[in-house]
Amino acid sequence: MAAKKRIGILTSGGDCPGLNATIRGVAKACFDRMGTENVEIIGIQNGYYGLINNIYKVMQPSDFSGILTQGGTILGSKRQPFKMMTVIGEDNVDKVKSMKETYKNLKLDCLLTLGGNGTHKTANLLSNEGLNIIGLPKTIDNDIYGTDVTFGFHTAVDTATDVIDRLHTTAASHSRILMVEIMGNKAGWLTLYAGVAGGADIVIIPEIPYDIDKVCEAVEKRSKMGKMFSIVAVAEGAFDTEEAKLKKKERAKKRAEAGILTATSRIAAQVQANTGLESRVCVPGHMLRGGSPSAYDRVLATKFGVRAANLIAEEKYGYTVALVKGEITENKLEDIAGKTKFVSPDDQLVLTAKHLGVKFGD
Ligand code: F6P
Repeated sequence: MAAKKRIGILTSGGDCPGLNATIRGVAKACFDRMGTENVEIIGIQNGYYGLINNIYKVMQPSDFSGILTQGGTILGSKRQPFKMMTVIGEDNVDKVKSMKETYKNLKLDCLLTLGGNGTHKTANLLSNEGLNIIGLPKTIDNDIYGTDVTFGFHTAVDTATDVIDRLHTTAASHSRILMVEIMGNKAGWLTLYAGVAGGADIVIIPEIPYDIDKVCEAVEKRSKMGKMFSIVAVAEGAFDTEEAKLKKKERAKKRAEAGILTATSRIAAQVQANTGLESRVCVPGHMLRGGSPSAYDRVLATKFGVRAANLIAEEKYGYTVALVKGEITENKLEDIAGKTKFVSPDDQLVLTAKHLGVKFGD
């Protein structure tokens, strides 16, 4: 009789809606394809931290029931920066060696890593170290290279759009400029999609550095037309055209010296000072990562999970699942690790928004 397939699974980095739906998809499809009695799933707790520190739970089939609609992750998650993976710190722990040991001691046939860009870099490292790895692309940022979309993104778009909808009514009542800061440090996908879906007047994203005069001009133009309020959707990682000339670290240093908390608070202060129009800031923050996955994300997560189960059955390792032109497929980890999918200034949705009169501050 063939030995049971031992499958490790972990969720790493910032959580997002759809992690549990994906875990469920993988498990149910593995049980269906290989037979429940032939599969053992080991849940590594709190991402790579659990793999380093040998913290895990042998999962029962019942653990995967009733979790489709649950936000967060039943496995727990933790940030474990990639750049520190190969650095031996004060605790004297060789993290890569420890992860390999846990994998070996648990007699895993493979390890599934659900995560974003950092998670994929470590997944690729472990794959190069000889472990059988399969990645699954999660993040509300939608910035994983090689996939049209990541799970968690569309739920966050829905949540951020709801925030903008609610801001619209209060902005209109008070004739104010409402700035909403939306998560996304490097990539502006979430701000762009929610901005268009929520009818924002100005959308500011890191890929298109803004000129504050252009932003002020846009709100003033609206007020001259009798539209006394404006909605400005700002990605948390936005920066202006002057800052665009600086390296990320220099930018952060300059901001800290000037006591600037966030790009959004600075834009609001400048707009109010330059135009005289009353401005307010709203930061939904981690609310964008919470809640039950949308129907779209439940379907996507399930499809991704089933594809991962097929890869396990075929013993096809060193890949991450992806959606390309509407089709579920997979990319080699080595081809996508360390790359980021940014919004192109010529992206169809940017151009669509511009045709509607949405300004980007450029
Ligand atoms: O990567 C997802 C994300 O939500 C980003 O949009 C955001 O910049 C970051 O995580 C926040 O991370 P943390 O929860 O660790 O503060």
